[in-house]
Amino acid sequence: MNIVLTERLRTAAELVRCSRKTVDVGTDHGYLPAFLVMGGITDNVTAADIGKGPLENAEKTIAKYSLEGKIDTCLSDGLEKISHDTQEIIICGMGGTLIAEILGKAEWIKHEEIHLILQPMTHSYDVRKFLSENGFYIDTEKFCTDTGRDYVVISAFYNGKDNSRDDFYYYFGDVVTGKSESELGYIKKQIYYIKSRYEGLMMSHNFAEAKPFADVLDGVKGKWSELL
Ligand SMILES: C[S@@+](CC[C@H](N)C(=O)[O-])C[C@H]1O[C@@H](n2cnc3c(N)ncnc32)[C@H](O)[C@@H]1O
Repeated sequence: MNIVLTERLRTAAELVRCSRKTVDVGTDHGYLPAFLVMGGITDNVTAADIGKGPLENAEKTIAKYSLEGKIDTCLSDGLEKISHDTQEIIICGMGGTLIAEILGKAEWIKHEEIHLILQPMTHSYDVRKFLSENGFYIDTEKFCTDTGRDYVVISAFYNGKDNSRDDFYYYFGDVVTGKSESELGYIKKQIYYIKSRYEGLMMSHNFAEAKPFADVLDGVKGKWSELL
């Protein structure tokens, strides 16, 4: 028996490597840790959250499914209180800016053995940019559709190199259209955001600020003109 996860969390769970010490940052109800343990992926998970209420919810889930001893809870702002021997770090359901901020405060995650699984609700640009400019590389991205919205889940490792790329990459990653409806939906959402920013800045005569958006739109024209 296992609990049923949302498509968004299930997509993230599929990326978790087996039998490793794992943390779910911002766990809320602790459904993802419960799913990982009950599915036999790992029996060593920390369900972490900044809020006492969410952790109480997680404790209820742990008790309901008798998962004590396999999942512990931790009141922590981001990765602040998380044990440094953790190898799988999951952060789902937060904005990309906050995810980047949390990662930026934890120098100890700069280690080849550590795997990051990140599911930004918005601003995936900030996550890719942070990773690329801080010695991490993205090995894969997965897409899903959950209650009508399209999401990306980013998987990354540290290699200590300067992996910086251009804005086009930070907005879209290495995606190729047509692979799946979710992927296409995600690309369309990104294009809509870039176009809105560009048009807003042009209307207020902020031409210098609008230029980077114009450059990304040129890239879109070259690759996916049918989506413009
Ligand atoms: C929208 S819920 C997401 C729950 C679950 N991870 C998911 O994706 O469905 C966001 C959770 O992140 C927690 N959170 C927000 N900021 C945090 C931080 N800096 N450190 C840890 N948890 C945080 C909130 O308390 C909340 O429980």
